[in-house]
Amino acid sequence: MKSDARYPSHIAIIMDGNGRWAKNRHMPRSLGHREGVKTIDRIADAVFSRGIGYLTLFAFSTENWGRPESEVSGLLGLFKKYLKKNIPILTRKNISLNVLGDVSVLDEETVALVSDAYEKTHGLGGGVLNICFNYGGRAEIVRAVNSLSGKTEITEQDISEVLYTGGMPDPDIIVRTGGEHRISNFLLYQSAYSEIYFVDTLWPDFSEAELDKIIADYSATDRRFGKISE
Ligand code: FPP
Repeated sequence: MKSDARYPSHIAIIMDGNGRWAKNRHMPRSLGHREGVKTIDRIADAVFSRGIGYLTLFAFSTENWGRPESEVSGLLGLFKKYLKKNIPILTRKNISLNVLGDVSVLDEETVALVSDAYEKTHGLGGGVLNICFNYGGRAEIVRAVNSLSGKTEITEQDISEVLYTGGMPDPDIIVRTGGEHRISNFLLYQSAYSEIYFVDTLWPDFSEAELDKIIADYSATDRRFGKISE
């Protein structure tokens, strides 16, 4: 893995626009989500083959339960299918797969698949793929603070360590596809110094070329972390 400070080690993505992609083609939204899963496979391969160690994807937010029941069950079904198919594939590719979020509310089979993913792929050295599912940034911070209750003199580092991303670098880059300019409760604590890229492309159409453009732009950016350039 590259460790050049100008090269990102962690990219996080808000994968927005599946519904509009389908609507533009007069298809049901579920087909947009299915196409979105194909983009996950493509972009994950691209990220890891470029020597970037961490990819974090926002797949289902704590707010997404408010969508129509048929769409929610479609997304839960796609997630289960994704795990079944990809645990062996990612194991072969040497990629660790983590699910970040409160998965305890999901069905038993999905919970077992999430544990299986962790057990089979934990510590593999080829990269880390985090799928955020039933994830919300505020809920993550509340959970972290509760886990530290009783501790005095809590430091920023203490909080970082008990977030779902504990032990991982903060995202250098956050990408949101689909044209909206919002962070939507994603990685609130970890994004303090992330470079944020909003692109109009709908997630199913997001390409390796666009990823490369973002990485190149990031590499040319002077990250000052609140200081001034030297
Ligand atoms: C937003 O599109 C997309 C999501 C709800 C999250 C992304 C989900 C996937 C790529 C598929 C499921 C993921 C896994 C890991 C199986 P939208 O529906 O909000 O699009 P719109 O803004 O055009 O309506």
